[in-house]
Amino acid sequence: MLTVKNCDLVQLPQIEDGIDGCISVVENLKHIKFEIKRVYYIYNLGNANAIRGKHSHKELEQVIFCVNGSFLLSVDDGENKQSIVLDKPSLGVYLGTNLWHTMTDFSKDCVLLVLASEFFAESDYVRDYEQFLEYVGKKK
Ligand code: TYD
Repeated sequence: MLTVKNCDLVQLPQIEDGIDGCISVVENLKHIKFEIKRVYYIYNLGNANAIRGKHSHKELEQVIFCVNGSFLLSVDDGENKQSIVLDKPSLGVYLGTNLWHTMTDFSKDCVLLVLASEFFAESDYVRDYEQFLEYVGKKK
């Protein structure tokens, strides 16, 4: 269970076809609560030191899946932190606004799939942790 603010688990249906594999499906506004405007995927994660994320978003909402392999997702709302291993294609995590997130510990075959509520905009990113704490009003 995720207790950090602005994030949640997203369990997709898993349609099992026996020896013929599985299907998981996302339908717009049904399995996730925002309209999908952008889809991107992240791959070639063979370097053991790879670290992705390290930012929060002001407006953007996303759902992140590990469609192959595994990785560690760490989330931080400015007060509470949590980490979760994602290793099932049918289990995603909703990443809401103002949530610092980092992805590490990728298996060599790891592929991430991300569904996003907005087109890409660098201006929506907060890439500095101190600025993030300031933005969420948690700077000590
Ligand atoms: P970033 O979102 O920081 O990646 P991650 O969170 O996986 O570490 O993006 C990395 C680079 O790719 C950055 O220069 C912006 C660019 N980018 C786009 O141009 N369009 C996109 O949709 C995304 C997600 C990234």
